[in-house]
Amino acid sequence: MNVLLLNGPNLNLLGEREPEIYGTTTLAQIEQMVQARARSLGASVRAFQSNHEGALIDELHQARFWAQGVIFNPGAFTHYSYALRDAIASTRLRVVEVHLSDLSKREPWRQQSVIAEVAAHRIMGKGAAGYVEALEWLLQHGAQ
Ligand code: DQA
Repeated sequence: MNVLLLNGPNLNLLGEREPEIYGTTTLAQIEQMVQARARSLGASVRAFQSNHEGALIDELHQARFWAQGVIFNPGAFTHYSYALRDAIASTRLRVVEVHLSDLSKREPWRQQSVIAEVAAHRIMGKGAAGYVEALEWLLQHGAQ
């Protein structure tokens, strides 16, 4: 299975960004963890991060030609990007929405996700391990 590991705005700063909320693991380390688990499970992962909504949309559009699943942390776009929501619906990609923090325990505006209704599965509050769990979920639930 080919999987896109997609991260949105400010996630390039993981490790130094609000470590009390997001932990001390860097994005490079998360990508390595997912790549290593993918290798052991016989999957192939392409990792991409952008702070720009359009770049994330372009990546999703491209992924429809090669990926059978997407692990996606949309960062703050989670809460208001109808354009990303539409990109997922338009491509019909199987997306696991991942958040390092548990949004249900945070500010009210973070508890709203416009991505949730087009996501096949959601994982939150498990830190970096949530990304690996997302990969395992995609492999267990097969190609679409
Ligand atoms: C986040 C939660 C979002 O509210 C926030 O804007 C992020 C990270 C998380 O992983 O917990 O950038 O998606």
